[in-house]
Amino acid sequence: MKRIAVFASGSGSNTENIVKFFRNNDLARVTIILSNKKDAYVLERAQQLGVPSISFNREDFYNSNKIVRTLEEQGIDMVVLAGFLWLVPQSLIDKYDGRIVNIHPALLPKYGGKGMFGMNVHNAVVAEKETETGITIHYVNGRYDEGNVIFQAKVSVNPSDTPEMVADKVHHLEYEHFPKIVEKLIATL
Ligand code: GAR
Repeated sequence: MKRIAVFASGSGSNTENIVKFFRNNDLARVTIILSNKKDAYVLERAQQLGVPSISFNREDFYNSNKIVRTLEEQGIDMVVLAGFLWLVPQSLIDKYDGRIVNIHPALLPKYGGKGMFGMNVHNAVVAEKETETGITIHYVNGRYDEGNVIFQAKVSVNPSDTPEMVADKVHHLEYEHFPKIVEKLIATL
């Protein structure tokens, strides 16, 4: 049984979806949820789901080996970023090279980079009158949204769509595909 750590900064609806997907799966389990925000709703979800969780600060993440050590002690095989907004330090990338994946709510390389997260992305997509958007699942490197792409899925944007409607469509794509892609990657470990 492989062990997954999920990092999230906000609501955590993808985190919950991934936890539930792997509950009925012989391959892997989400065994820890980590957040850089101690009041993030994802930590409440973790409690409701019965998954151990921790929060950490900048010092822990960038200037200590606390997080890497925690992941190693827990025997984590795969790291999943699900709405996690901090850049991952090189020490963590080195330890989990090729085993850290992120989901981005747009078709990278469009609408990526620092500051491009959550509703900022969907607002920009609507402002630019895009006719399609989607999701990108990619490996994580030391730069925002630049790691190799693993998977993309598209959805159409109608002229009358609001950013909230686009967000809703994109979230549904995320729920459908993200756990399955993680499962495929874990199967190759
Ligand atoms: C998701 O849409 C995810 O793609 C996005 O944050 C949302 C988190 O939602 N990630 C980024 O924007 C990363 N740049 P959730 O907390 O409900 O899972």
